[in-house]
Amino acid sequence: MGEYQGKTAVITGAGSGLGAAMAELFAGEGARVALLDIDGERAAAKAEELRANGTEAIAIRVDVADKTSVEAAAQAVQVKFGACDVLCANVGVQQFGAIDKLTDHDWDWVMSVNFRGVVNTVSAFMPLLRASEGQRHVLLTASASYFQLGARMAAYVASKFAVVGYGEVLRQELAEEGINVAMMFPAGMMTRHIESSMAARPEELGPSRFDQSDIAAMIASSDVDTAADLATAEDAVSNLLAELRSGEPYIITHGSYRHQVEAQQSRVLDAFARMEEAKP
Ligand SMILES: NC(=O)c1ccc[n+]([C@@H]2O[C@H](COP(=O)([O-])OP(=O)(O)OC[C@H]3O[C@@H](n4cnc5c(N)ncnc54)[C@H](O)[C@@H]3O)[C@@H](O)[C@H]2O)c1
Repeated sequence: MGEYQGKTAVITGAGSGLGAAMAELFAGEGARVALLDIDGERAAAKAEELRANGTEAIAIRVDVADKTSVEAAAQAVQVKFGACDVLCANVGVQQFGAIDKLTDHDWDWVMSVNFRGVVNTVSAFMPLLRASEGQRHVLLTASASYFQLGARMAAYVASKFAVVGYGEVLRQELAEEGINVAMMFPAGMMTRHIESSMAARPEELGPSRFDQSDIAAMIASSDVDTAADLATAEDAVSNLLAELRSGEPYIITHGSYRHQVEAQQSRVLDAFARMEEAKP
């Protein structure tokens, strides 16, 4: 009997990378799994793979930026599985670009997928989480970029700040219902993130841009060895079950950016100290 036997896990962005690794993890613990992705073919292939290993799995094509699409997916999950015990709002897309190069379309797209996509997902699945009992989790995928503020990543970083802000309040509000809310902060992973982001961007917003000079600027702005920090998605989820069990809000998956978190916190505390000295 696995830890999630008889439970249902719903994962967005489950056709690839981190979401696919989450799907495998929960399936391995006996959960039924619903794999949601804008790339319906990849989600279907992953679901097929899980079914071949004895998991009850379904794939649903969804665009998390489109509220009605996510609501339809929730309805399909309800019909098939009845409820939801673990909701992983995991989709995120990337558009690098210097502050003065990011277009209105870039901002709208990144915010609509990374931030509103999370809100749409949680709103649509909330009735299914409430229809269940016992251990329930909402897991939001933020990013180490929340702490490692890399150059050329303004839209992405801002969207992940929005995810964390939303997640903090969601955690407070769902605590009394016994639903745990956690946020994970993966550092770099060897996934299809850039490729799938480019494929997922709606045509009417114009093509996604990828420029090696943005990557170079991002790496140069960091004082950690970003290459050495890279992990596989499987490695990134290796402490996930234990972390969810802990009920703690923040999940660090891998990476060497601890000193940046400490430095940021100490700058906030220093600001308090200056204020207290100036206004005794
Ligand atoms: N790869 C990294 O280095 C890294 C680092 C930190 C955080 N993250 C975050 O991890 C999460 C997963 O990313 P990944 O690295 O596994 O990337 P990935 O590209 O391998 O997987 C993301 C999946 O999301 C899907 N997707 C994209 N837009 C969608 C939409 N509008 N609706 C539904 N599905 C959509 C893609 O088709 C893809 O299958 C994201 O939130 C990302 O921001 C990634």
